[in-house]
Amino acid sequence: FAGRLTGLGLSDGKRVATVAVREFGDLLSALAPALGDPARKKAAHNSKLLQLLLAKHGTALAGVADDPMLYSYLLEPLASSHALADVVLRRQGRKISPSLAESASRTHQLSELLRPEIVREDLQKLYSEIELPLASVLAEVETAGIRIDAEILGQMSGEFDKELTTLTHEIYDLAGGAFDIDSPKQLGEILFERLKLPGGKRLKKSGQYSTDASVLESLAQTHDLPRKIIDYRTRAKLKSTYIDALPKFVQQGTGRLHTTFNQTVARTGRLSSSNPNLQNIPIGDEFGLRIRSAFVADPGCRLISADYSQIELRVLAHLSQDPRLIEAFVQNEDIHSRTATEIFGVPAGLQNHEHRRMAKAINYGVIYGLSAFGLAERTGTSRTEAQRYIDTYFERYSKVKEYLDGLVQEARTTGRVRTAFGRLRPTPEITSGDMQARNRAEREAMNTPLQGTAADLMKLAMVRTQSRLKREQVQTRMILTVHDELVFDAPEAEIERAEAIVREEMEGAYPMRVPLKIDLGVGQNWRDAK
Ligand code: CTP
Repeated sequence: FAGRLTGLGLSDGKRVATVAVREFGDLLSALAPALGDPARKKAAHNSKLLQLLLAKHGTALAGVADDPMLYSYLLEPLASSHALADVVLRRQGRKISPSLAESASRTHQLSELLRPEIVREDLQKLYSEIELPLASVLAEVETAGIRIDAEILGQMSGEFDKELTTLTHEIYDLAGGAFDIDSPKQLGEILFERLKLPGGKRLKKSGQYSTDASVLESLAQTHDLPRKIIDYRTRAKLKSTYIDALPKFVQQGTGRLHTTFNQTVARTGRLSSSNPNLQNIPIGDEFGLRIRSAFVADPGCRLISADYSQIELRVLAHLSQDPRLIEAFVQNEDIHSRTATEIFGVPAGLQNHEHRRMAKAINYGVIYGLSAFGLAERTGTSRTEAQRYIDTYFERYSKVKEYLDGLVQEARTTGRVRTAFGRLRPTPEITSGDMQARNRAEREAMNTPLQGTAADLMKLAMVRTQSRLKREQVQTRMILTVHDELVFDAPEAEIERAEAIVREEMEGAYPMRVPLKIDLGVGQNWRDAK
């Protein structure tokens, strides 16, 4: 329960036995042969956690066939929790007492109840070939953990302290006096009452002025204070969520950080991580890079980072079968430049930075249910222009248009959409009378098959790569997964072999109409490897 192993509850459907943690010394070794026997089929709710906790007691887990937590996630991806008690409440209408015995028998019951549903919904392959083996891979990745160089973070923390102090004084000067910078109420009054900056809007609920990022960004055009506040907030946030927090997650003794990967949270099928959340480390700015430089290889090892290139766009090409999109990827063209050519009629050699930037925003925008309004916001163009670009895009890539329209239609008639691997996403609001809700559901119907298929591919690649690393008995270990990237810790003597394995398994994860490509780098730390 709650990530803490209180004991083991065992049930064969009729009888129940429990083993408390304090009895583990004697009993776990007696149970070990059965727990580690792949031929003895087992059910475990959250098998990843069980494997992880048993590993801490030196006991292997094999032969898990049913994981009702994963069943529940695949069947009802919109549900907010797949914890045992919540699944029992939803599926059996019962409140359960958190005892080992009851947990064990409910796990057995849920397995019997949900297994046939998985088959009926055609989710069996996704479950047994991707999600279930992935749970075990994730347990291994979490157990491996990653080495953190606390000194780098300590140094950063000191620098950030100094910068925050300097910023604080600058802010007081600009504001004409000291105040609590972290208080939106006080900040709002200074900006809009004392300094009389334009465009102050009061929030309905609190009556305070809004001082969110977009408000500050537009005020920064006319006054220096908002820019300083933005800098202050960015630094304070990074300091508290990463620079000062990461060392606290490092385990005494191992010196490593063991994050938790969530396999049953994202509605698209993507993985996420918590404690810490590795998905939110800024990409491509100086601070993000420095934070990544604190994730280091073991002595005698290097980190390998392998990142799928433009995976969602490749999935779009594969699923829509648009000939122009397929051609661009097969010919290994610059996809954004190609789209710029299609939209602006300007050949690659004559394009400027703006052409490519706009094309890139459209290419990725399509995946999120592009609207003229959204594109105009993101690129700073007018809405009329944006609409014209979108129209031209869909003229040139007409199969993409057909494919996306088809998804919305599918959602309307069946109430759900699926990824290439059959992952389900219900879209209950697709027929809603509320236009906003309906639009959102339409965007989800277009986005989930693309994002979700990318997620399926990534998960499949993880399962394949991990099993190959084991089969080849190398020392290289998978230690992180973030977005479309995998990170490995590899002994120096093994680097080339590990690179080849990772490349083959990730690029060969699944045959598509366009090639899958990864960018791969090696370095002493995560920044240098990327
Ligand atoms: N992205 C986005 N919208 C944009 C730009 C980027 O959604 N206008 C997201 C995409 O998910 C993309 C990720 O940010 O996969 C990384 O962006 P980037 O590396 O710039 O994308 P590439 O397609 O590799 O661009 P380039 O060829 O310029 O490197």
